[in-house]
Amino acid sequence: MEALNTLFDKNKIWAKEITETNPNFFKELAKAQSPKYLWIGCSDSRIPASQLLGLQPGEIFVHRNIANMVIHTDLNCLSVIQYAVEVVKIQHIIICGHDSCGGVKAALGKHEYGLIDNWLRHIKDVYRSHQKEIDLLQDDDDKANLLAEKNVKEQVANICNTAIIQKAWKTGQEVTVHGLMYSLETGLLKDLNISMNRLEQVQEIHQLILK
Ligand code: CO
Repeated sequence: MEALNTLFDKNKIWAKEITETNPNFFKELAKAQSPKYLWIGCSDSRIPASQLLGLQPGEIFVHRNIANMVIHTDLNCLSVIQYAVEVVKIQHIIICGHDSCGGVKAALGKHEYGLIDNWLRHIKDVYRSHQKEIDLLQDDDDKANLLAEKNVKEQVANICNTAIIQKAWKTGQEVTVHGLMYSLETGLLKDLNISMNRLEQVQEIHQLILK
């Protein structure tokens, strides 16, 4: 594919650079993976998980979707979480939101986009829970950034509401779920200090009585 030639060229250079430093890098990595982290972030091209964390292949398990959501019925995201926790045995899950998120901005508007409206509606639900606080802000960008933070907190809770996480905790597996924000302007991450790692932190209605 001629259109992809640049990509193949870049890929060859990338693989060559790594194997020059460590000739067995890919051979060793092909045998197994044991990353400690699962990253759930926005699909936005400006937020490449491994790159912004300075990590090598094999160091982080990744799931990305529009506006870093963990929807209760999203089998894709839930399967990633289950596999990451139960098979890969990751120790930390990072939900990472970001400023100027197109998904969050769209959710604050009323424009009809089609299929994606069904996805954005979940963000509108988060807005509804924090409407008073968000509406105190005048600036639209500030509103979107605050909603993006509230959304991260909601998704951290959503992960902890699953039987996947609660089973892990019950069996003594240490899994901590963190909420972070990434700044497009500085390239820096900020910890929202809302980490959850035990059942008592989960809202009572969501504390499952596990078999
Ligand atoms: Co985004």
